[in-house]
Amino acid sequence: MKLADNKATLSFSNGSPSVDLPVYHGSVGPDVVDIRKLYAQTGMFTYDPGFLSTAATQSAITYIDGDKGELLYRGYPIEQLATNCDFLETCHLLLYGELPNTDQKKDFTSRVTNHTMVNEQMQFFLRGFRRDAHPMAIMTGLVGALSAFYHDSTDITNPEHREIAAIRLIAKMPTLVAMAYKYTVGQPYMYPQNNLSYAGNFLHMMFATPCEKYVVNPVIERAMDRIFTLHADHEQNASTSTVRLCGSSGTNPFAAIAAGVACLWGPAHGGANEACLNMLEDIQKMGGVSKVGEFMEKVKDKNSGVRLMGFGHRVYKNYDPRAKLMQETCREVLTELGLQNDPLFKLAMALEKIALEDDYFVSRKLYPNVDFYSGIVQRAIGIPVPLFTAIFALARTVGWIAQLNEMIGDPEYKIGRPRQLFSGSVKRDVKPLAVR
Ligand code: CMC
Repeated sequence: MKLADNKATLSFSNGSPSVDLPVYHGSVGPDVVDIRKLYAQTGMFTYDPGFLSTAATQSAITYIDGDKGELLYRGYPIEQLATNCDFLETCHLLLYGELPNTDQKKDFTSRVTNHTMVNEQMQFFLRGFRRDAHPMAIMTGLVGALSAFYHDSTDITNPEHREIAAIRLIAKMPTLVAMAYKYTVGQPYMYPQNNLSYAGNFLHMMFATPCEKYVVNPVIERAMDRIFTLHADHEQNASTSTVRLCGSSGTNPFAAIAAGVACLWGPAHGGANEACLNMLEDIQKMGGVSKVGEFMEKVKDKNSGVRLMGFGHRVYKNYDPRAKLMQETCREVLTELGLQNDPLFKLAMALEKIALEDDYFVSRKLYPNVDFYSGIVQRAIGIPVPLFTAIFALARTVGWIAQLNEMIGDPEYKIGRPRQLFSGSVKRDVKPLAVR
């Protein structure tokens, strides 16, 4: 970051002396006012619940311009990455800062591929779960448990440990998600097949059985790969900030990523794709497209508590570029599988059309986000709805690790410790039980 020529001056109407605060430029995007010394200078904190105006860190990984609807990983537009690169190339980019050349790609792919198996004990750990457990409950447990299996990569301050933990996490997440699925349906786990691509191997572990040969469909493989690429990183969102905060205490990388998985589960974040598909299914049961108007009235009624899931974003106020790419993939997959007339897709299109024309959504700049279409694609592929968020977690793991590693390598890194505006009781004395 670069110190700007101008300063910000904070003045107070009660006569307290004003303070000058340094301003910094990033390479692109809004400047920041540096308030690190504010408390020492004034005895005051800033107040920003929800981080609406607060840059919690500096980062060189992902840039979003919410007004333009632009998403860049290390400077490259998401549209170009989703079209010209595969997920492992994107992982290399996010982790090391550059797209790999042919040799680097071969080396990175082979390093990831060598770690796709998980410790055999993991199966017995899984067995402790109920068969109907939510996959995200299982994933939170399994990812945290990795730290109990890989003791040689738990020191977050050691760059070699961080590197091997990164490769292990990227390699093993598909195996764990597929195991969580196989466990809930009572099928045997399928070991990874290292001759397949990252996405192809995941599809194989999900849908193959030992009874017959499973051939990966290249259209579905490409769609899966695109889902991974589109979800790989997204700046300082809730789960990434959780990973950073958790990792800032010096905990091991597996524990920090498990915290990210837990945060992602919520319906306002990664759980939105599941919530979106459940919403579409509910409208379908109510009568489908003919009930869209009625449903929209509920969404617009503040007292109903109903939101149009898959719509709206804290940062994108024009459109979500991932949603456009996902809509394209959605059409390809439905055509490949002969599902062009899929009623849920038609319903989604009807909802989108109305929402894009309705003043409620237009005035609040609410547009479809990536989750609006990713659920339809995943359902068409045969992925059960409760697994959607686990797949998001699989894809986001590389982003979480890249951000965690960036934080640990940052000379300005400190344990994260937000402060508060206390509004509870002032000091008082405990009365004996008999007189309370
Ligand atoms: N349906 C109906 N109204 C909405 C919606 C929606 N999906 N989203 C926002 N609004 C309204 C909200 O009621 C408020 O109206 P008013 O100004 O009259 O009070 C206004 O729009 C601003 O909403 P907000 O809740 O203050 O905005 P936020 O930035 O805090 O929330 C959000 C962003 C994504 C949590 C929210 O838009 C939402 O709940 N969307 C549905 C869930 C969803 O699809 N989440 C996935 C996000 S993308 C994937 C990811 O990155 O995790």
